[in-house]
Amino acid sequence: MTKVWDGFIRGFHWLLVVGIAVLYFSGEEGWLDLHFVVGYLLLALMITRIIWGIIGSDTAKLSSLFHRPKYILAALKSKSQHVGHNPAGSIMVLIFFLLIFIQLISGLMTTDDILMEGPLVAYISYELAEFAGDIHHLNIDILLIAIAIHIIAIVMYRIKGINLVKPLVTGKSNIESTAPKMRKGWVAYVIFLLIAAVVLYVWGQEPLNALF
Ligand code: HEM
Ligand code: HEM
Repeated sequence: MTKVWDGFIRGFHWLLVVGIAVLYFSGEEGWLDLHFVVGYLLLALMITRIIWGIIGSDTAKLSSLFHRPKYILAALKSKSQHVGHNPAGSIMVLIFFLLIFIQLISGLMTTDDILMEGPLVAYISYELAEFAGDIHHLNIDILLIAIAIHIIAIVMYRIKGINLVKPLVTGKSNIESTAPKMRKGWVAYVIFLLIAAVVLYVWGQEPLNALF
């Protein structure tokens, strides 16, 4: 058994799944106070993930996500397991990070034209806010397609005999390898809580008061 995912990467992934589900439904239903509060928490989570990509465990490193095309193609054909994301999976991870940040940043610039406006709307032109709203509506569909492809890929690996989900729950893989360098996940949770507190203090007071 080799430890491949630290406690933060595991928690990050499942919090991300829950966060995006809540944001999708609250957005569609127009429950915008909840949408804003969870949006701010997800922003803090994603910023923490990027910081952890610089100071975190080897398998969390952003630098481990960039590979030459020939390794990406080889990874698609290969049946062997990889410590951390394999080169093909890394592309998916980078696409997710990009799409999620586009969704978050466009949300900060979006208004429902009635009661709620993202905190950056006050600083931009009406046309830019309209454009950001169009991006916010369009990008969610692209994100949903990426999620569908992601889940199909995980199922395909399972059919090939590779269970990727178990390591993302337990942290450990049955792959035999020299252990990658791990950092303590709680450090990242502390960073997350600090960033979340600042974002909620600066932008979150109105929606938090409306919710509680
Ligand atoms: C909202 C839906 C989802 C999103 C946005 C999402 C996003 C991501 C991201 C960003 C990563 C990279 C983790 C990192 O290094 O930080 C990842 C990895 C992973 N996800 Fe998801 N995910 C979603 C749903 C799921 C579901 C439902 C499953 C299980 C059935 C799953 C299984 C996995 C696995 C196994 C990995 C690790 C892949 C590897 O070993 O390289 N994901 N996902
Ligand atoms: C990854 C994070 C996010 C996701 C997945 C998401 C998703 C959604 C969805 C699905 C809708 C409904 C769109 C429609 O009716 O077609 C929506 C609407 C909206 N979102 Fe987000 N959102 C996110 C982040 C944010 C953030 C951070 C803010 C601002 C703080 C925000 C502000 C808004 C606003 C103001 C609307 C209403 C737009 C309207 O009525 O036209 N969103 N969002």
